[in-house]
Amino acid sequence: MLKILEFQVAQELLKTIKKLLMSLQINSLEDYHKAYQASVENPSKFWDEIAEKFFWRKKWTQTLDYNWNVPETKWFLGGKLNITENCLDRHLASKGDQTAIIWEPNDPKDPAQHITYKQLHSKVCAFANVLRNNGVVKGDRVCVYMPMVAELAVAVLACARIGAIHSVVFAGFSSRALSARINDAECKVLLTSDGGFRGDKVTPLKDIADEALKTCPSIKKSIVFQRTQQAIAWMPGRDVWWHEELTKVDDHCPAEVMDSEDMLFILYTSGSTGKPKGMVHTCGGYMVYAAYSFLNVFQYKPNDIYWCTADIGWITGHSYIVYGPLATGATTVMFEGVPSYPDYGRFWEVCEKHKVTQFYTAPTAIRALAKHPLSFVTNHDLSSLKILGTVGEPINEEAWHWYDDNIGKNKCPIVDTWWQTETGGMMISSLAGVTQDKPTFATLPLPGIQPVLLNADGTEITEIKAEGILAIKQPWPSLARTIYGDNERYKNVYFSAYPNYYFPGDGALRDAHGNYRITGRVDDVVIVSGHNLGTAPIENAINEHEGIVESAVVGFPHDIKGNALYAYVITYDGVIQTDELITEIRNLVAATIGAIAKPDKIQFVKGLPKTRSGKIMRRILRKIASGDTGDLGDTSTLLNPEIIDALQKGFDKN
Ligand code: WT7
Repeated sequence: MLKILEFQVAQELLKTIKKLLMSLQINSLEDYHKAYQASVENPSKFWDEIAEKFFWRKKWTQTLDYNWNVPETKWFLGGKLNITENCLDRHLASKGDQTAIIWEPNDPKDPAQHITYKQLHSKVCAFANVLRNNGVVKGDRVCVYMPMVAELAVAVLACARIGAIHSVVFAGFSSRALSARINDAECKVLLTSDGGFRGDKVTPLKDIADEALKTCPSIKKSIVFQRTQQAIAWMPGRDVWWHEELTKVDDHCPAEVMDSEDMLFILYTSGSTGKPKGMVHTCGGYMVYAAYSFLNVFQYKPNDIYWCTADIGWITGHSYIVYGPLATGATTVMFEGVPSYPDYGRFWEVCEKHKVTQFYTAPTAIRALAKHPLSFVTNHDLSSLKILGTVGEPINEEAWHWYDDNIGKNKCPIVDTWWQTETGGMMISSLAGVTQDKPTFATLPLPGIQPVLLNADGTEITEIKAEGILAIKQPWPSLARTIYGDNERYKNVYFSAYPNYYFPGDGALRDAHGNYRITGRVDDVVIVSGHNLGTAPIENAINEHEGIVESAVVGFPHDIKGNALYAYVITYDGVIQTDELITEIRNLVAATIGAIAKPDKIQFVKGLPKTRSGKIMRRILRKIASGDTGDLGDTSTLLNPEIIDALQKGFDKN
């Protein structure tokens, strides 16, 4: 019976192969305008035609149902699918021997891996069986805390294969950050590794995970991948070796049939207040949008070698290392290391070595590399590159031109892609070589995306050339459906400030041609090196120190990181404000959240500028932190205006 069913699925799959995904690619400016128009006039018809190109076990009965007052959004209702059949099985007949993943190790002296679609399919099915053997069933949450080894991609796909919900936690997070995320989602199994290589550093991932698991009662098993071979502790019964488990299974694993709106994964992102938000993405809409946006923004063509330098711990890695590229049958590069190891030419060495055609990175990496001699670039043959991309924060003019001149040699379109963990896929971006790019502008919305600019009172700005609060008018398929376990917070953060719009938290300006330039966050989130950090959790961490009464953290402009963090700290009477205390504060933040959240500057203060209602006036703190000694604007609502002078005098210039 099972065999007959599998045969039928295989037959259907073969038919799907003929529905060429490539036909979804927009190839001219005229087609872009047509597609955009069509997506606005009749969104259901537009997305139906796109979704039909994928492999569904059962077709949907309704394209879209939403109510932004609940809020609730559903796409492709009643549709059944498994995303891994689209990322893997679908390609076996036509490109089984094509490389799916090129894995480039941390150390360039070690060999790269070329994993074909057939091999990846086999690895995913085998590991999916390992998960099953270890008690994982559909709907269970699996936490993935791993370095950038190819098995990390295998792990997320294996979860998806059996309908388990993956929650990848970036391997730079601390044990406390890890346990908070595991507990929030009540994960049943942890996938980790003995350690991870990143440049000349080795991160003791298993040690950190062990520490986290002391407070994670939901975890029944920890499956450990061996990467560094360092000494680790072992808890029999809970800990099992990845490679030993693999000897107990075969690589035959029929895919679990998922509802379009079943959860595919949870990914945590920081908010302006409280604990991290577990953004929930679902199977159908996410797949369709990740693939569609990938094909169009990067204009991927057969035989291209596409490389996104992000970590799979972030949404960029989920959508544009794993799901988008694999769903479209692309070859995707996965890099274990860092741009500075063994030297500052590593990115360009890898581009040359694998003949990369599309290269997608973050402005912070570009700025960091631009500081070093150009010989690190010119030593390498970059002639394979066709298209460049950036993501994570606004790119400044200087960095844009450095990238354009030295990496793209003024021949490669640059896609500046604006999007978020919450949006699942790229929202505003040029389509490489199809629509025009413009330095520092993300430019135009993708088909299906309807951005608007709002006034502070929530009314839409009708002039084309304008500046305002960025909002999105209509749902799109890969919008995060909720915050795991907290739909109320989801509503408050994204749908309450401006009713009937999705509010991303960014400001933007629009030129006379309708191009958008993102100007930055309008809330208490700071983007440091492309990482989204809420200031409230950092303040909470600092306030845990026994010598500290209160603190306020803001961002200030930084050459390389884009923004860095500046902490204003009030100590208890009698606490001596030493360099050791500063180190303790920074270590406390690293231990609570992770090294990325450490403040660059710490200033001890006697008080914070507050309004009569007790709200800290962050606008003033931001100005002082940026070294601005000029006019601080309206301070008339301050309860304690006398504090300003002392704050300015104590400004940490170093
Ligand atoms: C925030 C989302 C999307 C994956 C990486 C970050 C900022 C992102 C751009 C861009 C200007 C950008 C925004 C956004 N951002 N891309 N091209 N231009 N700003 O994902 O951690 O969810 O952060 O990053 O402020 O809201 P994230």
